[in-house]
Formats: sequence, structure tokens, C-alpha cells
Amino acid sequence: MPFFGKLATFGFASISQYTFKWIIDHFPDGSTMLELGSGNATKEFTDHYNVYSIEHNPNWIGKFPTHYIFAPIKDYGDYKWYDIQKIQEQLPSHYDFILVDGPPKKIGREGFLHNLHLFNTEVPMIFDDANREGEFELIQKVATKLQYPYKIIKHGVRKKIGIISHKEIE
Ligand SMILES: C[S@@+](CC[C@H](N)C(=O)[O-])C[C@H]1O[C@@H](n2cnc3c(N)ncnc32)[C@H](O)[C@@H]1O
Repeated sequence: MPFFGKLATFGFASISQYTFKWIIDHFPDGSTMLELGSGNATKEFTDHYNVYSIEHNPNWIGKFPTHYIFAPIKDYGDYKWYDIQKIQEQLPSHYDFILVDGPPKKIGREGFLHNLHLFNTEVPMIFDDANREGEFELIQKVATKLQYPYKIIKHGVRKKIGIISHKEIE
């Protein structure tokens, strides 16, 4: 894809180009990635990784060569999140890292905290949008629950990503 095309892929609803590069620099090609929330950046990741994408919106299913896990949003009383049963049924047995970039802000991502048991939390977890209060709180709460350290990386004017990993990541 020409450079301008790549610029159009990143930002807006998708992760930034910085975040994409950070991930590419830290996980070798051929790794398996599990993402919560798919979008245009998913296509770029599939050039490097075996990608599994948990996605609630049918309009964002089937667009790119990832393994989609279609999990519509359900109301769990205290919070709304992906259909847990759909995730349980379709999660791969192995993945090398998790990118938390969904559901969208208006639904919220708190469900990840309440359903950590679904996931292998031994692998590094990257959280987009750590500059947002809700996402920053989520990172702190997940790190506290797992008793793992977290770090926040600022990039661009106001964007931040959060990383939780029990192993040191440079
Ligand atoms: C923050 S987006 C996920 C973006 C994805 N991780 C990426 O970097 O391309 C969260 C949700 O918004 C929806 N979405 C993705 N791309 C979108 C776009 N360009 N415009 C509107 N909604 C989008 C999808 O349902 C997705 O699960």
C-alpha cells in the first residue's frame, strides 16, 4: 500500500501508526495476536501475524483475513460487553499477546476486567487509548487484580498506550 494509504489506515477509530510500529517492534512476525475490537489496522496486522479478532459489529466482520470471533454486545447488569459464551467457544488455545481496543468507548471496556479468567493473562496485554480516563482506570484495575506491573507510553500530542506484562518489556 502507498504511504498515504497507510496513513489513512491508522488514527481516527484505529490505533495510531506509533502503536502499530511498537507492536511490530516487540512481537516477531508469525506470532499469534488476539485483538478485542477490529478495524482497518487489523488488515495491516494480518501481514505479520496470525490474528484473532473479537468483534461485536457485523459491519466489521469478514473484511480482512483474520479469524473473526463474532460476539455481539450483551448487557450483564453492571456493565455491557461482548457475549462471553461466544468468546469462550471460539478463543484459540494459544496467542502471544492481546490488544485491547474494543468495544467502543460508548459501550466501555470494563468487561475485560470482569472476565480476565477467559484469557491467558500471562501474555503481554496492550491497551490502546490509555489517555482516556476510563481506559487508564481499566489498566490500573487489571494490573492490580493480576498483581502485574504496568507502564504507560505517551506518543504524539496526547495519545497513550498502556502495557501490562509480568515480564519486563523494553
Ligand atoms: C477502536 S475500534 C477498533 C479499531 C481496531 N483495533 C483498529 O486499530 O483498526 C472499536 C470498534 O469500533 C468499530 N470500528 C472499527 N473501525 C471503525 C471505523 N473506522 N469507524 C467506526 N467504527 C469502527 C469496530 O466495531 C471496533 O470493534
